[in-house]
Amino acid sequence: KKIAILFSGEGSNLEKLLACLHNQVFEHCKIKVAIAICNRPNAAGIEKSRSYGIEPLIIDHARYESREAFDEALVEAIHHSGAELTVLAGFMRFLTPYFTQQVKAINLHPSLLPLFKGGNAIKESFDSPMKVAGISVHYVSEELDGGEIIAQRCFEKSEGMSLEDFEAKIHTLEHELLPETVKNLLNRN
Ligand code: GRF
Repeated sequence: KKIAILFSGEGSNLEKLLACLHNQVFEHCKIKVAIAICNRPNAAGIEKSRSYGIEPLIIDHARYESREAFDEALVEAIHHSGAELTVLAGFMRFLTPYFTQQVKAINLHPSLLPLFKGGNAIKESFDSPMKVAGISVHYVSEELDGGEIIAQRCFEKSEGMSLEDFEAKIHTLEHELLPETVKNLLNRN
């Protein structure tokens, strides 16, 4: 089974996913990365991808005159790769209906959706009066962070937890949940 991975920055989730595939953590499920795509030429994740022998395709959004034109390039590359599932692992671009209608994709979001959609989720959920926080993996739809929720993990905010601790906890959970969800989805069909 082939997947595409899209990323924009640090690439820690990309790295964990690649490590799981490399170490064959998913025993009965053979998953191959058909393509990794990065939209920022200087992203730290590029080296991480290379360290697993995957040369990412750089599709720099700044070189396209519209979101649609950028999305067309993404869709073409994904379709050409033969990936049946696309995983957004820290991919920080709004996607147009041109993309969402043609590509089956999942996204990782650092909050308990439908709460705290958007780019400031970690800070907003840290600052909220809620006693719990968490992360979500959901299908990508036209609405930002609004597609069907597939899996979530939550934790209790502890007394005196700093924003750094909170963020670290979020990332630890993300690193577990994303690979697990990819495996479960691909095992299902
Ligand atoms: C993660 O917190 C994810 O939830 C959000 O972007 C971040 C990506 O981190 N969508 P990394 O690039 O995988 O380290």
